[in-house]
Parts: sequence; structure tokens; C-alpha cells
Amino acid sequence: MVPGTVQRATLFDPQTRLRTGEGEMPSIRAHDLKHYFGEGELRKQILFDNNLTVFPGEIIIMTGPSGSGKTTLLTLVGALRTVQEGDLEVLGRSLKGASPAKLMEFRREIGFIFQAHNLFESLTATQNVRMSLELMTPKMNPKELNSRARDMLDLVGLGNRIHHKPRQLSGGQKQRVAIARGLVHQPKLVLADEPTAALDEHSGRMVVELLQKMATEQKSTILIVTHDNRILDVADRIVTLVDGRIRSDALMKEAAILTQMIAKCKVFQKITPRTLTRIADEMTIELVPANTRIIQENEPGDRFFLIRKGAVSVRRGFPEEEIATLQTGDFFGEAALITGQPRNASVYTTEDSLLCSLSAASFKSAIAESASHDDEIRTAYFER
Ligand SMILES: Nc1ncnc2c1ncn2[C@@H]1O[C@H](COP(=O)(O)OP(=O)(O)OP(=O)(O)O)[C@@H](O)[C@H]1O
Ligand SMILES: [Mg+2]
Repeated sequence: MVPGTVQRATLFDPQTRLRTGEGEMPSIRAHDLKHYFGEGELRKQILFDNNLTVFPGEIIIMTGPSGSGKTTLLTLVGALRTVQEGDLEVLGRSLKGASPAKLMEFRREIGFIFQAHNLFESLTATQNVRMSLELMTPKMNPKELNSRARDMLDLVGLGNRIHHKPRQLSGGQKQRVAIARGLVHQPKLVLADEPTAALDEHSGRMVVELLQKMATEQKSTILIVTHDNRILDVADRIVTLVDGRIRSDALMKEAAILTQMIAKCKVFQKITPRTLTRIADEMTIELVPANTRIIQENEPGDRFFLIRKGAVSVRRGFPEEEIATLQTGDFFGEAALITGQPRNASVYTTEDSLLCSLSAASFKSAIAESASHDDEIRTAYFER
């Protein structure tokens, strides 16, 4: 790898599909999709000529101001509204002009996680979750239905609330039952409207990690509407809707994801948001093939690295022995820059990875800006 090579074009191409193979069928394809509300003189256009292509295994986060049309778009994709103008294909089927019966059948294949959770008050958490599984798999026996529903509740951290009814649950717990219900039938498409809004940081993380797992393991497509910038890092792509139009500002938003990731690096925790943004700007991004050596033990350190997506193995000694593995969101290479000593380990990619890196000069100037926190930075480093 040649440090400093910028391959942004690869990363920011909206069609870049890190999780997917070439030639795959999109799971969502919207073409010139428009939507109107109201009749006659009151008819008002809400969505304008929107184009969107999403592939299996992709996680798309949709953001945008209130009233910009996010829920409208999401409900169109979920066949909860009739397509009026433009084309919309979802999971290989054209939704325009499809019969109500076909649409209903189609909706069962989708995992919906909506804000208004609509749980049945008279049913327990398990029974609520079980219902959506029964609809999809009418032949499954009751024992299996129950155990699948319970396992799902366990996964969202509600293993100890399975017999509770909605009124005995907090807002966040109800939200998690709704999430379990939306995911229990392992849908190929998950549509989520503010799924983490009512959740604390820990539960929110748990839920997005679950969605991430579905995307990776089952190649489910996940479309999330959210204002929660704590979860932006899970997105493969961020789509912004403004006044009914998808704004293609992937580049700007990619920087936002990066900023979030940098903010989570312990060494950068004390720096100002402005510096964070500057670091994101100064980073170069490379797509590095699996099994490439990024840094070598005993060589001088010249760059700091952040794993935007992928995984690496940290090895030391001769013969080399693995001492750690790092993944998306983790960073490495700071030790030599902080201490001025040679690299204390070698690092290899273990899969095709996107690595962001920062020159020693940029790294040091960012750290110097928080000179008063120098001690904390050292502590953070030595705690790792
Ligand atoms: N059933 C409806 N009839 C008429 N107008 C509607 C209807 N549903 C939504 N709208 C209008 O369409 C626009 C887009 O609404 P939508 O709910 O899609 O916005 P949103 O981006 O999801 O907003 P928020 O972030 O507040 O949830 C708004 O101006 C809203 O008032
Ligand atoms: Mg909405």
C-alpha cells in the first residue's frame, strides 16, 4: 500500500457496494418516484422524481428535516401506500398497479419497525412477537413459534419480560418488543422509522448491531429513517431527503460518518468538533485488499489509521504472533506517533478493508490543539 493514495472516487460512488457482489439484483429500485397528498386544488406534491437503488445486504440511513417526506417514502417502499407516479420495484416485484391482495402478501415479507408500535395490549410480549411469525410461517408448530419469539426477545434484551403485557413495559421496552416483532421472521427487507429514538445508548446500540448482523449474515436490506447520529456509523450509505428530493451528498455525509468514528477514538476524545471535522477532511481513504501489510514492526511511524470498514490483525515478534484483531471503528498506529518510538507491531488486513489514515503532522497538530489534555491522551493510549 502506498500511504497517501486517495481513492475517494471508489468510496463515494453511490453505487459502491461493499457488502455485495457485482451483477446482483437491487432489492429496492425507485425511478422518478413522485407522491402527492390531497385532492383537487389541495393536491400537494410531497415527493419529486426520486431515484434510489439499494442492494441486498446494504444498510441505508435516511435523514432529513421534519416533513421532508421520509416516512412517505418508507411507506411507499413497504407497500403501505399506493404508488402514484414513477416506478418502484421492491424485492424483485413492481409495486405499481399491484393488486391489494398481492400487496398484502408482499408486506408480510417485510420487517416493519415503526414509531407508533401498535402492540396488542391484551397480548404478552411473546404473543405479540409470535404473531408476525405465524403470519409468515402458518405451518410452524406452537412450540417452535414460542421459542423463536422468546429468542428474539432475548436478542433485544427483553429475555426477562417475555410474559409482560405492553402496559407493564416502559416506552423503550415496548419499542424493543416492536423491533423483535419486526425482525422475528428474518425479513429480507427491514424498514425502520426512528427505531432507536426511545432507546438509551446501550439498547440503541444493541438494536443496530442486530440489524447489522441481519445485513451481513442474511443479506437483508435495511432502510432506517433516523435523526440519531449515534448510529450513523452502521450505514453503508446515508441518503438525505430535503423538500421531497433525495439529495446526493454522499460525500458530505461520508465525512459525517468519519467524524463520528474519529470522535469515538480515545486519543481524540478531548478535541473540539471543529478539529474533528478538520481531521475527517485531512484523512485519506484507501480500499486495501485482504492480507496486505499496512505497517511493519520496528519501522518509524508516519501515519495514524482508522478502520472505516473491515478488519486487521496486529502481530508482533519473530515468528509473528497475533496479539489483537481490530475491526470497523477501531484505530491503530497512534503509539509510534505519540511516543516517537518505532512501530511496536505489524498490522495486516484480514479482509478487503477501507482504511482512513492521517499523516503524522496532521495527527500531531490535532493532538497539540488539546495540549492541556496531553496527559489524558497518554493515559488513554497506555490503557489500551
Ligand atoms: N396522509 C397525509 N395527508 C396529507 N399530507 C400528508 C400526509 N402524510 C404526510 N403528509 C405531509 O407530507 C409531508 C411529508 O410527511 P412525512 O411524514 O413523510 O415527513 P417526514 O420526513 O417523515 O417527517 P418527520 O421527520 O417529522 O417524521 C408533510 O408535509 C406532511 O404534512
Ligand atoms: Mg416521519
